[in-house]
Amino acid sequence: MDKKNNSKKNDDKNVKKFYELEHKERLEFLKKEAHITDQDSKIFQDFPKNFKFNKVNNMIENAIGFIPIPLGIATNFVINGRKYLIPMAIEEPSVIAAASKAAKIASVKGGFLAEADNSIMIGQIQLISRDKSNDDKDKFFNKEERDRVKKIILNNKEKLLEIANSKSRSVHAIDLQVREISDESINKMGYMIIIELVIDTKDAMGANVINTMCELIAPELEKITKCTVILKILSNYSTKRMARCKAIFPKEMIGGSKGIERILYAFAFAYSDIYRAVTHNKGLMNGIDGVAMATGQDVRAIEAAAHAYASKDGKYRSLTKWYKSKEGDLVGEIEIPLAIGIVGGITSVHPYVKISLKILNIKKAKELALIMVAVGLAQNFAAIRALADEGIQKGHMRLHARNIAITAGATDEEQINIIASKLVEENNVTVNKAKEIIELINKNEISNK
Ligand code: MEV
Repeated sequence: MDKKNNSKKNDDKNVKKFYELEHKERLEFLKKEAHITDQDSKIFQDFPKNFKFNKVNNMIENAIGFIPIPLGIATNFVINGRKYLIPMAIEEPSVIAAASKAAKIASVKGGFLAEADNSIMIGQIQLISRDKSNDDKDKFFNKEERDRVKKIILNNKEKLLEIANSKSRSVHAIDLQVREISDESINKMGYMIIIELVIDTKDAMGANVINTMCELIAPELEKITKCTVILKILSNYSTKRMARCKAIFPKEMIGGSKGIERILYAFAFAYSDIYRAVTHNKGLMNGIDGVAMATGQDVRAIEAAAHAYASKDGKYRSLTKWYKSKEGDLVGEIEIPLAIGIVGGITSVHPYVKISLKILNIKKAKELALIMVAVGLAQNFAAIRALADEGIQKGHMRLHARNIAITAGATDEEQINIIASKLVEENNVTVNKAKEIIELINKNEISNK
């Protein structure tokens, strides 16, 4: 290496990596490199008493601060006969109000009836035939090899389960199954073998413990089969961990049989068309994700599983079903996989999450699943009812108009209300219009009362 390059390498050594910087240094770095101002950087120095920088920095890498998301409470929920106050963290207006209103209507007929499976998850280990040549073909199994390898694995099931369970006290692998998979479109040559650990994660979501178990048995699998392990990871398609809910919405509160008919058309649309179904499911996930965010769940895992489940019969469909009861009321049902936990992960370290769980006052992860699935159904009801009736913009617009009034500079509550009403009334919810109204108020041309 020439002298110049050598000295560059030494210089690089003296430059701290972002992760090595102290919090203040990270902010200084961003001021220099990413054009944030002193004022911007101050936002990231303001930590609540029990959620200081160190805590955030222990949760993720390269932390600089956190982004607050509004936290609210959905009311009126009666689930399996018990009343709940349900914390939801979400930035979208109308979601919490809509869920609460739907829950109130459902409560007339007893509220939500919900049930959830035990917390059974799957960890997958991918096995390919040991490399015999450079030819990819040899890395997949032929029929004879498949039978040999499967037999060895199943003969060693007890031992493998023992190894999987050797490091965990509360969570247990309860079964081990073997599948062979092949897909014409990706490999024309043959099969892989997938070993699946079936694990009861109890009150935890379980990702860490599942991945640990898969990694623990991988060396033994390679030893006994003389094959090669590639992936060792949980499956987020948590179909052994389903949650279901049903509720009845009385006809007289939702526009009678005409109202119900329109809602059923809305459902038929979502059931049969993917472009509508995705939006329909997005709406019900507003509710589920809101509770998931407030209670510290892995929202990405929940979303991935829900949308995969929506296509379980080969076509992406609505995750809810709606029909008319014999009495002429509207009945809604929902069924989704829900891998959630109330122990482990951030549930025991995140101060806000701990309070949300306290508000729910639940003892089991299963109970949280019941709550989430009920909120999902309520949210879906609220959305399709509004859409099948006057549309959602009117309700949305009121809250949106308040935000616009604040953006335009309104500070006092009364002024915000007046501006929001005028914006909606004139069907012109823009910052410019809001500024015009503020000017008129300041000139006393519109009363501030
Ligand atoms: C908006 O976040 C959700 C809705 O679009 C859901 C739906 O269309 O059913 C209103």
